[in-house]
Amino acid sequence: MPEIEAHESKLYAEFAPLYDKIFGKIFYSRLESVIDDLDIPPGAKVLEVGAGTGTSFPAYPTHCQVTGIDLAPDMLARAQRKIRDNGWSHLTVREMNALDLDFPDNSFDYVMAFHVVTVVPDPIRMIAEAKRVCKPGGKIVIVNHFTSDFPLLGALTEALDPITRWLGWRTNLRLKPFIKTTDLAVERVYKLSKTSLYTVLHGRKARNGFRPTREL
Ligand SMILES: C[S@@+](CC[C@H](N)C(=O)[O-])C[C@H]1O[C@@H](n2cnc3c(N)ncnc32)[C@H](O)[C@@H]1O
Repeated sequence: MPEIEAHESKLYAEFAPLYDKIFGKIFYSRLESVIDDLDIPPGAKVLEVGAGTGTSFPAYPTHCQVTGIDLAPDMLARAQRKIRDNGWSHLTVREMNALDLDFPDNSFDYVMAFHVVTVVPDPIRMIAEAKRVCKPGGKIVIVNHFTSDFPLLGALTEALDPITRWLGWRTNLRLKPFIKTTDLAVERVYKLSKTSLYTVLHGRKARNGFRPTREL
């Protein structure tokens, strides 16, 4: 297990008061569309890792049980306030590391990771944990930006990686190696529009367990 770097969540903790103002509305319509499309059935157990201020929370149907986890208490305090103000009894939040989830194996029907795989220090470890806590046959849903496959654009965004890392996210994660290394059984990969920078990825945990994760 790699050493956990606090930097990413620390940055978001400091940034929490501004997060909803800057990203809330932009991110919400994307997440609403992704969650609607899943048609989550009644009684489903959902985990959202790196849930932050709960940007996605209004989109979840009240007939499922959602747990949001995040390492940044200031982000979670905002999510908690939304839960209280809206009387959402189907939502709870807990402070927890996405790289070391405090849940038993096979606990959730859905594991969501929205705008978080490029923020955690070890995305491969995060997906291994998501697979562990996902029930056999359950879904892992990722929304994120990945480095472009267009050579010039890809090289440019990779060159920016040291700067964006300092700011709190990486820009050198390419989709195909990510899928290969995490050994995700991918069912669907799509973009919400032709020009969107963000990719939506549906993975499924095999019913007979999951394939071992390879190291990067
Ligand atoms: C870009 S924000 C995304 C928040 C939310 N998912 C959204 O779409 O608005 C990334 C979040 O990941 C959280 N985070 C970073 N490292 C984490 C870790 N190791 N475990 C759990 N959360 C983490 C940060 O605190 C932050 O809230």
